Amino acid sequence: MLANEKVFKKGGAAMGNWYEQAIIYQIYPKSFKDSNNDGIGDLVGITQKLDYVQNLGANTIWLNPIFVSPQVDNGYDVSNYFAIDPLLGNMNDFKEMVTQIHKRNMHLILDLPINDTSDQHPWFQDAIANKDSIFREYYIWQEKDGQRPNNWGSFFGGSVWAPDPKGGSQYYCHVFDKKMPDLNWQNPEVRKSMADIAKFWVDKGVDGFRLDAFIHIAKANFEQQILNQKEKYPVDSAFYANLPEVKNYLKDFVKAVKAYKPDVFFLGEASSADAYQAAEYTRPSQFGCDMVVTSDNYGEVYPLKDKKLPMFFQPRYLDVKRLKETFSIWEAVLSQTSLPALTWGNHDISRVLDRLHVDESDQDLPKALAACMYLQRGVPIIYYGEEIGMRNLKYKKLKDFHDQRGVDLIQFMQEKGYSDQEIIDLLNQQDEMTARGPFQWQNDKYVGFSTHHPWNWAEHNEVTAAESLRESDGQLEFYKALLKIKASPLFEAGSYLLLDTQPQIYAYERKLNKQRAFVIVNFGTQTVKYRIPTLKVVHTLLSNKASSLVDNVVTIEAHGSIVIEEK
Ligand code: NOJ
Ligand code: CA
Repeated sequence: MLANEKVFKKGGAAMGNWYEQAIIYQIYPKSFKDSNNDGIGDLVGITQKLDYVQNLGANTIWLNPIFVSPQVDNGYDVSNYFAIDPLLGNMNDFKEMVTQIHKRNMHLILDLPINDTSDQHPWFQDAIANKDSIFREYYIWQEKDGQRPNNWGSFFGGSVWAPDPKGGSQYYCHVFDKKMPDLNWQNPEVRKSMADIAKFWVDKGVDGFRLDAFIHIAKANFEQQILNQKEKYPVDSAFYANLPEVKNYLKDFVKAVKAYKPDVFFLGEASSADAYQAAEYTRPSQFGCDMVVTSDNYGEVYPLKDKKLPMFFQPRYLDVKRLKETFSIWEAVLSQTSLPALTWGNHDISRVLDRLHVDESDQDLPKALAACMYLQRGVPIIYYGEEIGMRNLKYKKLKDFHDQRGVDLIQFMQEKGYSDQEIIDLLNQQDEMTARGPFQWQNDKYVGFSTHHPWNWAEHNEVTAAESLRESDGQLEFYKALLKIKASPLFEAGSYLLLDTQPQIYAYERKLNKQRAFVIVNFGTQTVKYRIPTLKVVHTLLSNKASSLVDNVVTIEAHGSIVIEEK
């Protein structure tokens, strides 16, 4: 059997690799715990709080980038892949963190930006200093009659092409910020260098990598313009996302790292991939990713569209029908291939409870969302603070928003005549900065995160971990119980079937050999009855507000959830 070949049992259960049992907790390192009170979270802080993460029931930690970076894009712009950013600590802090993670039988996944580097990276510096440098070919240089080769737009605004800072007629490609030049993955040396970086961290004990932006490593023919667009630099990911060559480029890199350590986990960030592309990326034995995570599985709809605003900032609402369609497809398409990622959010999008307009007083819907998502077939990825019901930070002034997307939107909305308050309200609802607030440990001046004014600070909701730990029927307890259930073989490896139910009920069956269980969630505002499709005796594993279970009929209140097992 090849190194990364997986054995998929009939019914979809994948067996054998540690990450098939992973329950991932995503930590935004700058915002989790500040150990030296400079206002910025750090690695020592994370180490101090590992027991909390373990007690929650997570067994794997994913850290957003921790390498040396000018922090143009919060660490995604790496200038040295072989060292820890001094803001977050040093290599000794890292080693101690890994030791403590492994002591708890947990795993560590590092975020590895592979599509681009910082413009301060020595490769790029050498590439611009010396046109004959071998590192010139590490990046993508083009021109057309001394001009930009095409009209492609960057995800961060403007053109994807920026002029060589040291002069000449060539432009380099950057699909994100212009301070983040794209690497030239066509060049085998780039793939090899990236594999060397991964191996360096494997040697330091890292168990896996989130491959940041990997879907962009291949680009279409640069002569092709994006047609029929009104903007000067339209964004069309057809030309720079999910191209067939992505898989080929990735292969050498993954193969090299897996040859070094076969059970390294590659979690690809495939934000715009559909289920079929996800299957292609994760096909066993092909040296692609082991799993991918998309941002397209939240079951959101946009009924209150403001046609003047970009899609990302449109108000979103949960649509149960859409969620059902999404997961029935993802689960079916991946059933013989890999595990779907189960998540309600990450650092690139506002927190789920705000995004979906969940009422502050509703104690049940957050639990229903968790039950519905995480007990499906797949690997949960929980964004830090979600388990205690943390909400978006609420900023007061326009100048508090300093992420590029937010800044661009402010300018755009001002030009269109929106008032400051309208812009602030929209950003507080939708902007990613609002989701990157300090973890709320306890009720003091800076929520137990630091004694220093935190790097990202604004009004926040009142929940804290300390208080949540005291509540016996609160959200945190519910998450703990849920994740315990998730860690059982039936919920890790069983097959998945979404059941045909009334529109507001989300119900599915999990099955493994002779074991069977049902997860039923009522997203509606009325109590409903639901007949469980079994004639056997059943018992409740977990419930929230599900009032009764009589003769296999469950009566389930609004926003209630119940998990039932056959006996
Ligand atoms: C994806 C990351 O999740 C996001 O935060 C970042 O801005 C982009 N990659 C570009 O690096
Ligand atoms: Ca610190």
